[in-house]
Amino acid sequence: MKKAEILEWLKTEAPEKLETLWRRSDEVRKANVGDEVHLRGLIEVSNICARDCGYCGIRVGNTDVCRYRMSADEIMESVQLAVQYGYGTVVLQAGEDYGITRDWLTDIISRIKQTADLAITLSLGEREDDELLAWRQAGADRYLLRFETSNRELYDRIHPPLPGRVSDRFQILRRLREIGFEVGSGIMVGIPGQSYDDLANDILLFKEYDIDMIGIGPYIPHPGTPLGMAPDENACPDGEQVPGTELMTCKVVALTRILCPLINIPSTTALATINRVEGREHGLSRGANIVMPNLTPRKYRELYEIYPAKASCDENADESNSRIKNRINAMGRVIGAGRGDSANKLNRVA
Ligand code: 5AD
Repeated sequence: MKKAEILEWLKTEAPEKLETLWRRSDEVRKANVGDEVHLRGLIEVSNICARDCGYCGIRVGNTDVCRYRMSADEIMESVQLAVQYGYGTVVLQAGEDYGITRDWLTDIISRIKQTADLAITLSLGEREDDELLAWRQAGADRYLLRFETSNRELYDRIHPPLPGRVSDRFQILRRLREIGFEVGSGIMVGIPGQSYDDLANDILLFKEYDIDMIGIGPYIPHPGTPLGMAPDENACPDGEQVPGTELMTCKVVALTRILCPLINIPSTTALATINRVEGREHGLSRGANIVMPNLTPRKYRELYEIYPAKASCDENADESNSRIKNRINAMGRVIGAGRGDSANKLNRVA
């Protein structure tokens, strides 16, 4: 699919036309990754963050946040829940927390690998090369780092770098691939200042970089952030601003599935947050094949507030688990068995 066609779809409003997009993306999903929906148990290990991203509720500049970091034992307890619920993967996610040291996490990765037959995904921000290497060697399988937007000027505006460093997520993504990680990335849809042209470029980059999994969620304004407080000042002029709607997010999911048939695509929590009734289902029926139920202990959940009113904030792990499984079954889809490795990566390596 060429850029002009992507742009046309992104701007299409007609429901009957969109039905053909949904049908096509669902067919491509079924033919390439099947009916299985793989579950990844998300453990939000720490909300401490060194970075000051303009959109994110746990940015260092948001002094209203009560900070936490889970202990190794707490993490292991959450991992046990993943085993109990039959998940194939745990995702350890945190702010860019340098209190999560190379050696501390290396030990935890080894402990998980010794006790459970699980894939481990890390989502810990822009970390140093020696850290990524050590974690990979200890057995971590995958790494998630969204590039958020391919518009460099917009990226720079909303991602102040750490002093003396350049933030180059594409460079890190290439490095992760080289080290042998299964590589995940993604974007937010509707960032103030993101144009339709930018969004089409993002989708083309997923393909060009041959990323193994892509997370796509709507941008949700957070009042404790510069971008959340002044959306209009940052928006694109003249009808070029992408809306952060459920519909636009689903279009990006569908187009991504059509362009990258073998990758894993989660139906994201952000999508489930802006449409609590059927956001998850819409993601899954328009190209997604992954869901990430939250395993974070109840007491920490509302503290990991990257955006407001996050779905699953008011549940414990048991409730998230059964609610998500019920919804998948009700759609006639199958809970995935095994680790759910990316068919895209397996295909590339083969
Ligand atoms: N709205 C939507 N998504 C957000 N993220 C961070 N802040 C927000 C927000 N306000 C997403 C980013 C990040 C992921 C972990 O959460 O894309 O990569």
